[in-house]
Amino acid sequence: MSQKIQTLSGYFHEYQKSIHQPEQFWSRIANSFHWKKPWDKVLSWDFKGPDIKWFENAKLNLTENIFERHLFTHSEKTAIIWEPNDPNEAERKISYRELFELTCQFSNALEAEGVQKGDRVIIYMPMIPEAAIAMLACARIGAVHSVVFAGFSSNALADRIEDCKAKMVLTSDGNFRGAKDIEVKAVVDQALESTNCVEKVIVCKRTETPVDMKAGRDLWWHEVIEGKATSHTAAILDAEDLLFILYTSGSTGKPKGVVHTTAGYMVYTHYSFTNVFQYEQNDVYWCTADVGWITGHSYIVYGPLLAGATTVMFEGVPTYPNPGRFWEIVDKYKVNQFYTAPTAIRALQAYGLEPLEGYSLDSLKVIGSVGEPINEEAWHWYHDHIGKGKCPLVDTWWQTETGGIMISPLAGITPNKPAHASLPLPGVQPIIVDTDGNELKGNNVEGNLCIKYPWPSMLRTTYGDHKRCKETYFSTYPGLYFTGDGAKRDHDGYLRILGRVDDVINVSGHRMGTAEVENAINEHPKVIESAVVGYPHDIKGQGIYAYVICDMEGRTEEGLIEEIKDTVRKIIGPIAKPDEVQIVPGLPKTRSGKIMRRILRKVASNDISNLGDTSTLLNPEVVDQIIEGAKH
Ligand code: WTA
Repeated sequence: MSQKIQTLSGYFHEYQKSIHQPEQFWSRIANSFHWKKPWDKVLSWDFKGPDIKWFENAKLNLTENIFERHLFTHSEKTAIIWEPNDPNEAERKISYRELFELTCQFSNALEAEGVQKGDRVIIYMPMIPEAAIAMLACARIGAVHSVVFAGFSSNALADRIEDCKAKMVLTSDGNFRGAKDIEVKAVVDQALESTNCVEKVIVCKRTETPVDMKAGRDLWWHEVIEGKATSHTAAILDAEDLLFILYTSGSTGKPKGVVHTTAGYMVYTHYSFTNVFQYEQNDVYWCTADVGWITGHSYIVYGPLLAGATTVMFEGVPTYPNPGRFWEIVDKYKVNQFYTAPTAIRALQAYGLEPLEGYSLDSLKVIGSVGEPINEEAWHWYHDHIGKGKCPLVDTWWQTETGGIMISPLAGITPNKPAHASLPLPGVQPIIVDTDGNELKGNNVEGNLCIKYPWPSMLRTTYGDHKRCKETYFSTYPGLYFTGDGAKRDHDGYLRILGRVDDVINVSGHRMGTAEVENAINEHPKVIESAVVGYPHDIKGQGIYAYVICDMEGRTEEGLIEEIKDTVRKIIGPIAKPDEVQIVPGLPKTRSGKIMRRILRKVASNDISNLGDTSTLLNPEVVDQIIEGAKH
């Protein structure tokens, strides 16, 4: 397809077109897809509702645009290369034809088990090809998938099942990750004890861990597909039919279900994948994310497969069995585009250069970063030692809500500038505003990052609660989508993302609401009150620091701290476990009873030289006590 930008002037040209005539721009891009019925109108929108429709009244099936559209040209091309956790186990290579047949077979199985268009299906699975097949089969029949990262606890899983009233759960017996063999089905069993909407559970065998199979509810994957046809007539869906729900954390309350719809998401993930990574037809592309996050959705599964790419899916972790594992895989499959998170880079950087010995990394053409701001030191290490100084580094800024990459260099086209996400993709209109919402035009400005015009893969709502969507994203600055991030435009007009300006923290590239962690801590019977903040962490980007007021009767501090950490692990999952817990006699509060987090953040960051004005506090004496007991 001729949608690939080739030069910097070509980029500026396309960008201008996308701003001045967005409907013509996107209809030209969308025309290369396979539609059952064309759209009546490219875009209707209103950020007040919000009410956003792309490719209105068009009919299509996304999976036909992965399979049927490409089958004549590359049915035998490898779609997915799956690399197991254990390097001694055999890899799997699945061609487009095989993936098509497996998807059709599983689509038939889902329908036979009663899943219908619009039903919600939870996918709680490890990084195995069946997770991608499950997503594609849902898209094929018009069911709405909601993938839940398989590291979340049964509590977190139950919340998500309940929120979207899922009819089915797709899972596995267990999960091999590093040296661990993690239970998966047992977590589902526990989650289902407190929910009653799920009718059936389909279990894929991976680890051979013994599991309880509940009669009438639980079925084996290999049994449900037995005898099912390997062809399937795709459901004809509306452009705005729901494709998936993905839960993500915000600054308040429980995680919300971000809703993405079919056509716009399809068009944008394909377009952004092709342009940012400059994918060429024989390239091997590898994104190290997990399918449980948006990066896995858009840039392991949908974007690459829509582009007919070969996408690597890795089951394991970067440091198992040794910290050379990533580089071994790059050489093994001659990976051309490699896309990972700054936290992984920093973790590997800490091992020095020895783990790189013996690996050439010659195949690499493009390296990418996503999930959190990449610090300059990590940027240079990645660029010099992995990209060998010759690969463009794409620092891609985007969010679960944006569906696809929004601000990023285009590989080899946009000049690289360390730690700068740089320029918006065509169709994306970012602006920087001050706290009153006034646009800060020109260069050398810093403020809050908003988007002022719709793009095809933007969220449409938060599942079951449209008001929450409006309040969270469209009310802070009326008429704008507010990202929650701070940003700076430098003297060259390049954007640098500064991180979250709300109560969301980013731990190893995982998004976490401080309120969510506090709620989990407060479940411990001895906890009276807690406040959670982020602080700079060398490897994780941010660490979790919890200040907790406890009833200490009959308890030791160390014992309680361990129990509190364990409570969070059980309620949310290991990724939310606080790095530091400090038992405090009180929390600094304003006269209106609000916790002054600014002070807590400074103490957690060991930056106490200037705590600012504490005179408005109700209990200023508590600040000294907190500083005295601080964990640094
Ligand atoms: C942060 C992940 C700086 C940002 C795709 C955003 C980044 C949040 C970058 C979304 C980047 C993501 N530079 N910050 N290149 N990419 N972020 O929803 O704070 O898991 O708001 O989506 O990650 O996280 P989410």
